[in-house]
Amino acid sequence: MSDNLKRDAAERAAALVTDGMRLGLGTGSTAAYFVAALGARVRQGLSVVGVPTSEATREQATREGIPLTTLDETPELDLTIDGADELDDDLRLIKGGGGALLREKIVASASRRMIVIADGSKRVSRLGRFPLPIEVVPFGLRATQVAIEKLLETLEMSGELHLRRMADGSPYITDGGHFILDAHLKRIEKPNVLASTLNNIPGVVEHGLFIGLATGAIVATGHGLVELGQ
Ligand code: 5RP
Repeated sequence: MSDNLKRDAAERAAALVTDGMRLGLGTGSTAAYFVAALGARVRQGLSVVGVPTSEATREQATREGIPLTTLDETPELDLTIDGADELDDDLRLIKGGGGALLREKIVASASRRMIVIADGSKRVSRLGRFPLPIEVVPFGLRATQVAIEKLLETLEMSGELHLRRMADGSPYITDGGHFILDAHLKRIEKPNVLASTLNNIPGVVEHGLFIGLATGAIVATGHGLVELGQ
């Protein structure tokens, strides 16, 4: 069911792509449906270039025959299509469940528009039920963790930080060679304040709060597609 909804949102997004666009290609299962639908259009003659937000997306896009570029060659993009773990009514997002938040945020920031594709379960009235991914440098991990805990205390927030691990127990390593701390906060009352203060902690590379980046969303529900923003 959720897979069908993800595909519906992704296919609608692929239909919005026009000839000549420079695209950011998101990461995750919903974004993978988009890359597949985009690949089908490219094979029918659509001309685009894409910047993948992860090695996984790079591999899929290559298999699909989508011409790829880099932000060094193409520093400004027209449109990024990506999934999200949560989105609220102000198009604020939690991302990074798939571990690609750093490249996803760089690519979204380089884009004129970012459209989020999601099934209805991702839409929330308040962010925070999904653990917030915080990408950190391995050096000084414990000190960075303590600094984040102190920040949360200052902001009168509570929650546990869990180092993301692989099935074999080893730390999960991002495409950039960093670790991820998942912050189990349950509710984030002031996402904007948390987002800006987290970025001040040395050792924090980036976090999964995407604020002011998404310009639109396509949310697929059992009753059809809901389109927000543009
Ligand atoms: C990856 C992400 C994904 O967009 C997010 O986790 C949603 O994934 P899915 O579409 O598989 O539910 O942020 O870093």
